[in-house]
Amino acid sequence: MNLGVLVSGRGSNLQAIIDAIEAGKLKDRIALVISDREGVQAIDRCVKHGIPHRVIKRRSFDSKEEFEKKLVEAMKGSGVDLVVLAGFMRVLSPIFLKEFPMKVINIHPSLIPAFQGMHAQRQALQYGARISGCTVHFVTEELDNGPVIAQACVPVLPEDTEESLSERILRHEHRILPQVIRWISEGRVRVEGRKVVVEGARYGTLPFNPELEDF
Ligand code: GAR
Repeated sequence: MNLGVLVSGRGSNLQAIIDAIEAGKLKDRIALVISDREGVQAIDRCVKHGIPHRVIKRRSFDSKEEFEKKLVEAMKGSGVDLVVLAGFMRVLSPIFLKEFPMKVINIHPSLIPAFQGMHAQRQALQYGARISGCTVHFVTEELDNGPVIAQACVPVLPEDTEESLSERILRHEHRILPQVIRWISEGRVRVEGRKVVVEGARYGTLPFNPELEDF
C-alpha cells in the first residue's frame, strides 16, 4: 500500500511505521507525510529517512473545507491507499473522509470509548482508572470513536504522572499501529457494522495485549 501519514508534532508513531518498513515487517511505503505544523520533529524524521513530506497549515486557507480539499488533493496526488493519523491533532470532516471511506485509521491513547478527545492520559489519571491503553480505529465522523481494530492495555499505577502513563501507553502505540497497518495491507481486515473482523488474528488471554503477533 501507499501510506499517507498525517502528523502534528513529535512523530514517534510515524517513526514506528518507518522502523517497521525499514525492518522489513511492513511491505508498504510511505508515499507522503503531511504536517499541519512547521518545524516539528515529525518533519525532521522525514528528512532523515528520505520520505516525501509537506507542511499544509490550516490558517493558509479561508475555511476548513478548503484546507481539507487540499489535503485530499495532496494525498490523491501521491496515490495514497491508506491514510494514517499519527498524532494529528485535528478532527477531519466528511469533506476528507468521504474521499477515503474506511481508509483512514487513527491511534488514540486510551481504550475508546473511554477518554476521547484531548489529553486522554490525563483524563484516565483524573478519573482514577486502573487500566488504560491505546486504540487503533477507523476514523468516522464521530470524534475518536470509529470501529476498533486493535487495542492494547496497560496498568495505571498509583505513582503515575501524566508523563509516565503516556510513556507506558506509547510503547504499545508503537506496536499496535504498525501491526494494524500490516493486517490491512494483507487484506485481513473487514468491517461489519461497528465491529472489525481480523482474519486469522490470534487472540490469547488477558490481561495484556493478546492480539499482537509481531510488533
Ligand atoms: C500519541 O500519544 C497519539 O496517540 C496521540 O498523540 C500522540 C502523538 O505522539 N493522539 C491523540 O491524542 C489523538 N486524539 P507522536 O507524535 O509521537 O506520534
